[in-house]
Amino acid sequence: MRFPSAIAALASVIGCVSAIGSLGFDLGVQRNNDAGCKVTSDYISDFSTIGGDASVVRVYAASDCSTLANILPAIQQSNFKLFVGVWPTDDAHYAAEKAALSAYLPTIDSSYIIAVTVGSEALYRGDLSASDLASRIDEVRTLVHGISGYENTPVGTVDSWNVLVDGANAEVIQTADIVIANAFSYWQGQTMANSSHSFFDDIMQALQVIQTTKGSTDITFWVGETGWPTDGGSFENAVPSVDNAAQFWQESVCGIRAWGINTLVFEAFDESWKPVTSGIQGVETHWGVWTNDDTSPKYSLNCAFA
Ligand SMILES: *[C@@H]1O[C@H](CO)[C@@H](O)[C@H](O)[C@H]1NC(C)=O
Repeated sequence: MRFPSAIAALASVIGCVSAIGSLGFDLGVQRNNDAGCKVTSDYISDFSTIGGDASVVRVYAASDCSTLANILPAIQQSNFKLFVGVWPTDDAHYAAEKAALSAYLPTIDSSYIIAVTVGSEALYRGDLSASDLASRIDEVRTLVHGISGYENTPVGTVDSWNVLVDGANAEVIQTADIVIANAFSYWQGQTMANSSHSFFDDIMQALQVIQTTKGSTDITFWVGETGWPTDGGSFENAVPSVDNAAQFWQESVCGIRAWGINTLVFEAFDESWKPVTSGIQGVETHWGVWTNDDTSPKYSLNCAFA
């Protein structure tokens, strides 16, 4: 019976593909040559470099650098999908973010928008209390769900794994439709030998707390940021290098995707426009999987399951 066996084969392929977590990248919105804001053609060229295993990017704000206005035509043309960030502080900035959502989300089909995330490590930095962040998530959800076609778009937040596992922030997890967790073994000063152990441990703790708090394992979950710098200063036992970044990619990024966890990597491109004095001895300019002007990645992105 060829028909049933074809369906069985198809089902097993779909089952296999969906068992692997999706891959995406965090994306800066300033150009490296002049620190100017990226325009639509810059994003199209970014997506052509990134495209391959990944067709998802996340940006940190909607209004800064006219991000939504400039990126949405590129998202549509390149058939990428987008996490839209909303910066929830200060009040004027937050108002500009909401205005950008209202102005530009109606210009693109909601199927291109995976989620809208309010705050990026806002709890970690102490920018907002849990209840203030929860009420801003609620407010943005009301706005987004009021846009035609966006009635079911998830609205949530992104924060560091350690603040998510802190019970004091449970209100945020309860309010958010989607909670995304960041974890950097580099910033925990881990050796390469322990970096993937530490990463898996952090993410699994966050996922378990989110599932417990929501009372369900049927949730959409992503790692929001992880990665390893290729140059710059060491942090405790963590040493930036291309070899170490390649090892972290294989063990942690490929490894956790093989467990079925969707992962956004920080970050797609080096951000050379950032002041060299920022971060630990210039490490902030070397998180890219790609340099600024090379279309090949710094190291192999192939996973054993690919
Ligand atoms: C390895 O990472 C785990 C989880 O973060 C941590 O508990 C442990 O202390 C680390 N081990 C070493 C030798 O650093």
